[in-house]
Amino acid sequence: MEPRDLSNHTPYRAGGGIEEVARELGLDPDALIKLSSNENPFGPSPLAVTAIREAATASSVYPKAGHADLTAALADRFDVDPAQVWLGPGGDGVLDYLARAMLDPGDRVLVPEPGFAYYPMSARYHHGEVDHYTLSKAEAFEQSAETLLDVYDGHRIVYVTTPHNPTGSEMSLEEIETLAADTDDDTLVLVDEAYIEFSDRPSARRLLDERDDVAVMRTFSKAYGLAGLRLGYGLVPAPWADAYERVTTPFSVSTLACHAGLAALDDHDHVERTVETARWAREYIHEELATHTWHSGGNFVLAEVGDAEAVAAATQRAGVIIRDCSSFGLPECVRVSCGTREMTETAVETLNEVIGT
Ligand SMILES: Cc1ncc(COP(=O)(O)O)c(C=O)c1O
Repeated sequence: MEPRDLSNHTPYRAGGGIEEVARELGLDPDALIKLSSNENPFGPSPLAVTAIREAATASSVYPKAGHADLTAALADRFDVDPAQVWLGPGGDGVLDYLARAMLDPGDRVLVPEPGFAYYPMSARYHHGEVDHYTLSKAEAFEQSAETLLDVYDGHRIVYVTTPHNPTGSEMSLEEIETLAADTDDDTLVLVDEAYIEFSDRPSARRLLDERDDVAVMRTFSKAYGLAGLRLGYGLVPAPWADAYERVTTPFSVSTLACHAGLAALDDHDHVERTVETARWAREYIHEELATHTWHSGGNFVLAEVGDAEAVAAATQRAGVIIRDCSSFGLPECVRVSCGTREMTETAVETLNEVIGT
C-alpha cells in the first residue's frame, strides 16, 4: 500500500518556531525574538481573545451560526452578497477551495517565482500543472501585467500576490485589471491580499463588481493576529459564488475561529496599532539595516545579506529568528518581519552585527 505518486509534491517549509529553536539552542524561549513568519508582534486582538473564552463552551456544537454571522459581517464590510464570501481554514484553505472549484485534471496554473510555496502545492493536489512567471531581482521584483502576459498561455488560474511575499513588491489595481482583461475569459486572476492591510493601495475587491474572472484571498493571520486559529476568506464574483457549497469541507472554520474573527473585525485599535507599527518598522529596517533592502508594502522586509543560511543561523544564535529565503530561490536574502519598535530595533542591531562580522 502506498500513497499516489507524490514525487513532484514539495513539503511546505515554515519559518522556525520559537519553542523548537529555543530547545535546539538551549535558550529560554522568552529570550528569543521571532521575526520569521510575518506574524503579529502584538499577539491576537484582545477582543478576539475574550470572544474565544466566551465561545469555548459552545465547542460541542457544529459552527453553523458562527459561520453565518462571520460571513454576514464580512459581506457587510465589503458590500457583497454573503454567498460571495468563502470562509476557509486560513488563506491556505481558501486557495484550496478556489483550486477545487476551478481546476480540471491537467489544467495549468501560473505562479510567481519567487513566491508563496502553497500556490503550486495546492494546484498540484488538485491535479493541476504548474508554470512560473519570474519577478526579476534586477528590476526590484516589479509586478506588472506584462510580466505575466509574457509567459501566459491560457492558464486556468494566475496567482498574483500583492503585497508580494517575500519581496514586498506590489501590483497596482490598473495592472491587475489589465491582466484580467488581457487573459482568456475562463482564466481566474486570483489576487492574494494576505498583507493588504499594511499597504496604501486599494484592494482588488472593487473589480468584483465589473468582472467575473477575479477573486480575492484574505486572511486573519497577519493584521488581526489570529494565525494560530487558521481563518481566512475569499471574495468571489457573484455569478459563480454558489460553487462554494459544492467544494467546501463541511464546517471548515471552527466555532472559536468564527467568534474570534467577528470580534477582531471590530477591534480597530488593535489593527491600527499593528499597521502603524509595521509601517514604522519597515521604514526603520529599510533605513537602518546596513545592507540592500527592497521597499515593502507588507509587514516584512527582504534584505540582501550574502549567505542567507549562514546569516540567519548566526542571527538566530544571537536570539533573533529571521527567515532564510533560500527556499524561495533567494539564497542571498533574508526576510525580516516587522516587530514592535523594541523587537525591530534589536533585530536590526543584531543583524548589523552579524553582517559586519
Ligand atoms: C502570500 C501569502 N498568502 C497566503 C498565506 C496564508 O496565510 P494563512 O493560511 O495563515 O491565512 C500566507 C502566509 O504566510 C502568505 O504569505
